Amino acid sequence: MNEIQYWTDIKSEEEMKFKIISHSEFDNRTENDVKLILEYLQPNKNDEIIFDFGCGTGRLIRPLSPYCKNLLGVDISEVILDSAIKKCGDLKNVIFKPLQNDSLINLENNSIDKIYSFLVLQHIEKSKVFNILTEFNRILIMKGKVFLQFPSLLKGKNVFHQSLITKNQLRSLTPRLEFYLKEELEILFEFAGIKILEIIEEETDFYVLGEKEKEIKKLNIVLRSPFKNEK
Ligand SMILES: C[S@@+](CC[C@H](N)C(=O)[O-])C[C@H]1O[C@@H](n2cnc3c(N)ncnc32)[C@H](O)[C@@H]1O
Repeated sequence: MNEIQYWTDIKSEEEMKFKIISHSEFDNRTENDVKLILEYLQPNKNDEIIFDFGCGTGRLIRPLSPYCKNLLGVDISEVILDSAIKKCGDLKNVIFKPLQNDSLINLENNSIDKIYSFLVLQHIEKSKVFNILTEFNRILIMKGKVFLQFPSLLKGKNVFHQSLITKNQLRSLTPRLEFYLKEELEILFEFAGIKILEIIEEETDFYVLGEKEKEIKKLNIVLRSPFKNEK
């Protein structure tokens, strides 16, 4: 099972509740997450589009929508997105879109003002996170901002330890969980052309406030087969 299937295999609301492990734990952090986004990302009505990557059931969409002109939520799981539409369908300035895979290809270059993502990138392999950051760079307007949450390896040492132990035993029952060092984040963001303005450390997480500072060119790698007559 790959990391995406953990989410895309969800067939019912019941399974969703089981897999988004502790709903109440999530809800407990909503007030603080919204406070952080308002303080650091500062969404406002001058921003044309604010983007929630991996919006889940819309936990952050509803409280943030009054501050935004337009909010776009995307998610890889259809069932989770359906639940978000049920919960937030009445909000006139919110649009939800499904993602077919990790690719944000459907979004245009330089079309988004600000991006936030909470409790999502931690479930994605690091090389793919790098691709996603380069996609964020592509879709953001110049000087557009990101505000992204990552678990800290040092502060979340116990959870990290636990995840190492349970990884093999509970493979299909728990999502992938990745932890970061500050230095790793600095390198990842630099390579993705996003300048870090501030790294906030709170409890066991890092919150990175960044700004698109340059366009980055994607490498077009053409692979040649080592076998004769094969391209
Ligand atoms: C733990 S939930 C967090 C949801 C929401 N961001 C929140 O804070 O309440 C993780 C969400 O990330 C979504 N997700 C996981 N991998 C993804 C990917 N590669 N692209 C988009 N969404 C993804 C899952 O479907 C799930 O809804």
